[in-house]
Amino acid sequence: MKKETSPASIPDLSKNALTVLEKRYLRRDVKGKSLETPADMFRRVAETIAAPDAVFDKKADLKSLADTFYDMMTSFEFLPNSPTLMNAGRELGQLSACFVLPVGDSMEEIFDAVKYTALIHKSGGGTGFSFSRLRPANDVVSSTTGISSGPLSFMRVFDMATETIKQGGTRRGANMGILRIDHPDVMNFIMCKADQKHLNNFNISVGLTEKFMQAVENDEEYDLLNPRDGKQCGTLNARKVFQRIVKQAWENGEPGIIFLDRLNRDNPTPHIGEIESTNPCGEQPLLPYESCNLGSLNLGKFVKDGSIDWKKMKETVVNAVHFLDNVIEANNYPLQQIHDMTHANRKIGLGVMGWADMLILLGIPYSSPEAVKLGKKVMKFINEEGHLASQELAKKRGSFPNYKGSIFDKKGATPMRNATVTTIAPTGTISIIANSSSGVEPLFAVSYIRTVMDKNVMVEVNPYFEQVAKERGFYSEELMKKIAEHGTVADIPEIPLDVRNVFVTAHDITPNDHIQMQSAFQLYTDNAVSKTVNFPNTATIEDVENAYMLAYQTGCKGVTIYRDGSRDEQVLSTSKKE
Ligand code: CDP
Repeated sequence: MKKETSPASIPDLSKNALTVLEKRYLRRDVKGKSLETPADMFRRVAETIAAPDAVFDKKADLKSLADTFYDMMTSFEFLPNSPTLMNAGRELGQLSACFVLPVGDSMEEIFDAVKYTALIHKSGGGTGFSFSRLRPANDVVSSTTGISSGPLSFMRVFDMATETIKQGGTRRGANMGILRIDHPDVMNFIMCKADQKHLNNFNISVGLTEKFMQAVENDEEYDLLNPRDGKQCGTLNARKVFQRIVKQAWENGEPGIIFLDRLNRDNPTPHIGEIESTNPCGEQPLLPYESCNLGSLNLGKFVKDGSIDWKKMKETVVNAVHFLDNVIEANNYPLQQIHDMTHANRKIGLGVMGWADMLILLGIPYSSPEAVKLGKKVMKFINEEGHLASQELAKKRGSFPNYKGSIFDKKGATPMRNATVTTIAPTGTISIIANSSSGVEPLFAVSYIRTVMDKNVMVEVNPYFEQVAKERGFYSEELMKKIAEHGTVADIPEIPLDVRNVFVTAHDITPNDHIQMQSAFQLYTDNAVSKTVNFPNTATIEDVENAYMLAYQTGCKGVTIYRDGSRDEQVLSTSKKE
């Protein structure tokens, strides 16, 4: 018998979650009327993702598996990335959030990539590209004996394509553009978003190499290489270029940086290709034509009576890995090449949201050494249990086809079903659906004024804060409004000190605290960690430089910073890009 399908059958569904689901996720008729309830949506997803079990086991109990998946989602202990919720069991059927496409140095290859981008954006996915293979601007073009336009001009074409598509009502397209530090056009790339007018559908990151970072440390020159023939075509002073990147990031948050050698050090299938790019928010390095589907545990749900319920967390990890591996089967890929590459490596990205909630429930301040220690412990647990679950699946279903020659292919090693298992996503929308804090970020605000139709109408209060405030008797609407206006609880005397210490927000903690937390989670994450390092408006260029260096020294795979008020249009955080 089908479970009940009224919204009331999901007791924890918040009002905001319902609004988001109704706006974008639920099936609708041509007039825009919802054809399903949130419970129907989760049932549709659960059944679609359970179905592939029948391929591996004729006797599989699909009904009971679908119930497990349904319960895991409707309790908000686990949610898959948005495209899975939107598209599973529907005509489009495209379930992944992340794609990387190759951009080769010819008109055919460039415009093929534009077309593929359009197809992916239409389905709600995001695309990352390295433009490093394109010959620089003003280089020779033999077929026309003219001169080349260079990576930046072509990036505008991708940007326009994205602008035009706007993802047909699902969600707007996002791109990552990467250029290697040794590309001759790197200085123009660093400056390409400086006017805040162009490339609005792109996040940009400079691809740094170890060689470059050493040249920065030694204050040396480094070589620029023309990708057309690999020949040296100039030199630049590494420290000056690094400082330019830092200055630009200080100005308006971009470019970010990624450490290419680190991405490749952890590339599980080096025999298949080199990693040159990540997905739009940076957490998922992928080979050209690879896609990855993400999913996140909601950590706040694993705190029971003031301590962590490890048993339940383990069970959920096992089910989540099973779920995400099935997504690869159920997925309808926009291109044959993506289908083939994704099936051959079978990357999945299990991560977390609600990390700040978990700390609050345990009474641990986000910026304490204890929090960093616990972050490592939690992610180590998820990573280890996730890998074990992938190995268990491999026993029944076989290793990922590119296993031979991969980093797992060692004497006596256990087969793996998935080339990667863990990724920490921003969870920009699914954290709203789960009513949790996003990813591994601290709370953005304890309470804030929500603007609806350009009117400040509602004071939204963090649900855990509201609960504590009511329990401890200091709740009042005026106080919540005061906090929203003030932006922090750090210096509001009406609130008990122990509460103030735990309910810290992104701006109460130092950039170093942000990076230490990113690095703690990175230590036990196969792929990468999505994180924004927030700076106060008063931060200096040197502060940003120190943070970039710290990210490098503490093993992060990249870093994105944002100085408060430094963009014309301030989004809540990069993760709130919907
Ligand atoms: O919460 P949700 O599942 O919607 O997504 P997220 O965790 O905020 O973002 C995960 C990934 O989805 C991003 O890194 C992008 O690759 C992609 N994304 C996108 O393509 N377009 C958006 N508007 C948001 C996310």
